[in-house]
This record gives sequence, structure tokens and C-alpha cells, in this order.
Amino acid sequence: MASETLYEQIANQLFEQIDSGVYSVGDKLPSVRGLSRQMRISISTALDAYRLLEQRDVVMAKPKSGYFVTRRPGAAPEMPSSNKALVAPAWVSQWGRAMHATSLESREDVVSMGRAAPDVTMPTLRPLTRMMAVETRKGETRSLGYGPLQGCTELRVQLARHSREAGLKLSPDDFIVTNGCQEALLCCLRAVTKPGDVIAVETPTYYGILQAIEASGLKVLEIPTRPCRGMSVGALEMALEQWTIGAVLVTPSFNNPLGYVMSDERKQRLAAIAAKHRMPMIEDDIYGDMGYQTQRPLTIKSFDEEGWVMLCSSISKTLAPGLRVGWCVPGRFYDQVEHQKYVASMNTATLPQLAVAEFMAKGNFDRHVNSASEHYRRRRDQMIDLIDCYFPEQTRMTRPEGGMLLWVELPNQISGVELSKLALANHIGISPGPLFSARGRYQNFIRISYSQEVDKRVVDAIRTLGKLAHSLIGVPTEPEKANIEVLV
Ligand SMILES: Cc1ncc(COP(=O)(O)O)c(C=O)c1O
Repeated sequence: MASETLYEQIANQLFEQIDSGVYSVGDKLPSVRGLSRQMRISISTALDAYRLLEQRDVVMAKPKSGYFVTRRPGAAPEMPSSNKALVAPAWVSQWGRAMHATSLESREDVVSMGRAAPDVTMPTLRPLTRMMAVETRKGETRSLGYGPLQGCTELRVQLARHSREAGLKLSPDDFIVTNGCQEALLCCLRAVTKPGDVIAVETPTYYGILQAIEASGLKVLEIPTRPCRGMSVGALEMALEQWTIGAVLVTPSFNNPLGYVMSDERKQRLAAIAAKHRMPMIEDDIYGDMGYQTQRPLTIKSFDEEGWVMLCSSISKTLAPGLRVGWCVPGRFYDQVEHQKYVASMNTATLPQLAVAEFMAKGNFDRHVNSASEHYRRRRDQMIDLIDCYFPEQTRMTRPEGGMLLWVELPNQISGVELSKLALANHIGISPGPLFSARGRYQNFIRISYSQEVDKRVVDAIRTLGKLAHSLIGVPTEPEKANIEVLV
């Protein structure tokens, strides 16, 4: 097991004190300065320890007041297990068949929990549609012609301003606007690799990333990843000694599907590894703005001094996937990525870019994301309670601190693919685990999205899923536990 860093040790001590009742829910913890004095650690170590506890959702920072206990750790669901072994690079396989199942879930009659799609019905998003209409009514011909390859200046200015929160000091000229994050990832991958190269990824990994790797003729090296702290940096270093790795691709903040946030210290180590090995590192930050805590996580890119990290993101999770507005900051690979963007799709449509730029400039982005995060946090707790209530005993799951996805480990005998098929026959969409691995691992896992309102339809769907899961292990459905009605 990797040894703990100092701030992790301090966080673990506080965690145990909260768990054992030394501090109760609502109690104020020592101030950052107080903790630093008490434990003889630096202010930044004390801050890192508190941030880790925030990520674990047991404390919360109140502006100008300090850190308070929000939850007894014992109340958290048990985390799913993880893969610890490093296995040789492989071609992506297996997921094609299961991919078919998720594509069916855009059907109207399906309760769709398999896709990582945001709730686009929230009132705070309405100005965006208005702004689209305003841009159209202006009657300018600008949106009708080819736009600049790098994207509209108005949007890149807003993105540069916004990126400060993620610890970045960027200029509008550092960005290339793309058709969603998927195109950004694909352009970055193709800009820095040639067919046959090996790409190191977390495991499990979002299947769209595996698809982009496969379609580019690249191999996947799955690096062991812990559900609560992310890719093992030690395992990556070992892999670099064993194999020639063309690029590393990571989603370190509110990861899909695991939901973790890598600590700043580990992000810094990844940036240092990229620089040391002169190796491109593609950072997918698509969920970075979607945390439930006050402070937005930093990016690996913020520790990148030599331009080896290529940052990719989009508005598909924060605002609206239908607008297909994404971007990348390719660092030292700018020219190569610009070429790939030209080859892939020339420019990105102008109208959505202008509407998103206006939405951001007017302060609507922050308003919407803050409000959406509150909804998602509540829906996460509701969904965890529902799964806890209706699924078989040994079910384990993550408790993400941002985003909209739960990674659920079912008892060994249950096939996630089988459950997804049965679910779809009952008009329920979920994502089967093997989709998230090049080697078809995670047979007994599923991913569930909790972005939509937890109404009667969703409660019924989870109850049905629970029954189907029980039927797959030949156990009659558990008697329903009390209190679940209060959720609806
Ligand atoms: C981690 C991750 N990266 C990229 C994408 C693709 O994003 P977009 O719709 O902006 O292309 C997704 C969508 O689910 C995702 O979860």
C-alpha cells in the first residue's frame, strides 16, 4: 500500500476523532492556524488536511468561521473495491455490445439513468435559451459563415477569466474551442500519438475516452485506481519504467465514473511526472466546476510549468450537452491540436459559442452551477438512500463530492450487463460496468446517474432495479425498509 503523506495522516486522525465522537455533527474544528500549531505542521498542510476531509464530506468550510463537522463517517456507504494489479497494455474490446444498450436509452419511454447528462430543465438555465434567441434575432450574418478555427474571441475571453478559479493563468489565445469535450480529447490524443502507441488511463475509465483511444488505433494501459483518491501515482511510475507510454489521460476531478477528486499534492506529482518524462498528459476537467464544496479543485494544468499538460473540458455537464461547446488548452502542442481540429471539423458553430459567452459574462454561469450543485448533492443522498433500501445486502457504492454519477458494486454473482438488459426491458437505462474497461472488467458493477429529480418515476425505477438484482441472485426481494416515501 502507498504510504500516507503528512496531510493524509492528519486528515485521518481527525476523521477517526469525528468517527469516534470526539467531534460531533455541527462542532467547530480547530482553526487552520490552531491545527498547524497543535500538530506542528505548516498552514498549507493543515489546509490540505481540511480539504481532504471536505472531499470525504465530513467537514464543511463556512466563510470566515472555519471548518465544521457535517457528518459522522460511519453513515457513508461502503466504497466499491478496486483493481490493484498492473496488467500489460491492451486493445479496447468488449464495450461495443454494451454501448448499444446505452444508446437505446434516449428513448422517451425510458427512465434514463445510464447517461451522464445534466438536468437541463432547471430555471437558472433559462437565460441561455433566451440568449440563443437574442443572438439569432440580431440578424447578423456572422453566425452563418465559417468562424475562426480557434473559436470566437468572446468565448475564449470568458473561458480565460473563468479558468482562474481552477488555479490557471491563461490568455484567450491559449484556448481552442471544440465540439464538446469529446472532440477536444480526440484532437489532443491524435496530436501527440501515432497508431499503436500506449495510453495510460485510470481504471475504470469513461467509455467515450476508451472509444476515442480505440478509434485512433491506440492501446490502453489501465493504471490501478482507488475509488477515493484516484490513479495510483506509484503504479504510473512503475508502468513508465516497464513500457513506453505515449500519453497519460486522466479525469482527476469528480471522475467519471468513480467521482473522486485527486488531492492537489497528487495532481502536482502527476504534472511533475509529465515534465520529467517529457510526456503529454491529457487532463479531462469536464466535471471540475461541479463540486458541492465552496472551493473548486485545482487542475493538474495549474502545476504545469512547461506545457506538457493538455486541458480539455466543455459545458456539456455544467450547462447543456446539446450545444456542443467544448475547449482545450493544449500547451506546447497548440499547433498540432489546431491542425487536428481543422481536420476533424474546421470551426465550432458560432451561435452557441456567442450565447455561452454572454451567459458567462452576465454571471449566469456561476449562478446556475451553484444552484445545480445544491440539487445534485441532495439527489445524490436520495439516490444512495434508495439504492441502500432496495438493492441486495452486499451492494457497495461511491459517495461523490461533485458531478452526478454513482459507481455501484453489486454482489459478485450479478452481471451488470445482464442487469442492464433486464432494466432496459423494463424501460430503465443504466450503464453496465464492463463499458468502463478495455478488458471488460467490472462485470458486477453498474453506473447510475442521479442528475434528474428524484420523483416517483425514479423511485419506482430503483425499486424495480432492486427487484431485478435480487432475482439475479435468486433471492426474494427484501422487505422494503421504512421512510423511503419521504423522498418523493
Ligand atoms: C469524463 C468525460 N469526458 C468527456 C465527455 C464528453 O463530453 P462532451 O459531451 O462535451 O463531448 C464526457 C461525457 O459524458 C465525460 O463524462
